[in-house]
Amino acid sequence: MSRLDSFIRRLTAQRDILNAISDLVDQVQGPVLEFGLGNGRTYDHLRERFPGRRIVAFDWEVRSYSASTPPADDMVTGNIRDTGQAFLGINAALAHADIGTGHDEIDAVTLTWLPQLMAGVLVHDGIAVSGLPLDHPDLSPLALPEGIKEGRYFLYRRK
Ligand SMILES: C[S@@+](CC[C@H](N)C(=O)[O-])C[C@H]1O[C@@H](n2cnc3c(N)ncnc32)[C@H](O)[C@@H]1O
Repeated sequence: MSRLDSFIRRLTAQRDILNAISDLVDQVQGPVLEFGLGNGRTYDHLRERFPGRRIVAFDWEVRSYSASTPPADDMVTGNIRDTGQAFLGINAALAHADIGTGHDEIDAVTLTWLPQLMAGVLVHDGIAVSGLPLDHPDLSPLALPEGIKEGRYFLYRRK
């Protein structure tokens, strides 16, 4: 599969999962955390899906389009590994992390801290959506929406 096809399938999976879990998230109170704001496309989608919900976004620095940049109070800059610690116990309804790089050695380092962070920010029954697998005893895998191949994107519910 070409890298273009792979990219498109990954983003399609991301969007389809976020759409599919909207009803689950609607049943849980709490903010939404977007780890890896990037240029803000997914942030914009989350804003559309969850109007009225506080959405806090994280990235090394702000590089998003101005129209999809969060208000300053909801934008956290720096290494998510460190900045995320202040949000442990915030009882988020949804945490989404799109911070994989496709480089196994870099992603392996991210996976030394990301599962704990995702589990730690979520409320009971909160939803974790991730581009990297999250192996954590408090996160139960959920079935992916139809048509999304296993391993393309990852979906969990907080125990
Ligand atoms: C694939 S992009 C996210 C794209 C985003 N979903 C969008 O709609 O544009 C990943 C982002 O995560 C950020 N990122 C990755 N690891 C990070 C870390 N440890 N701390 C802060 N930001 C990180 C990168 O800077 C990049 O902007």
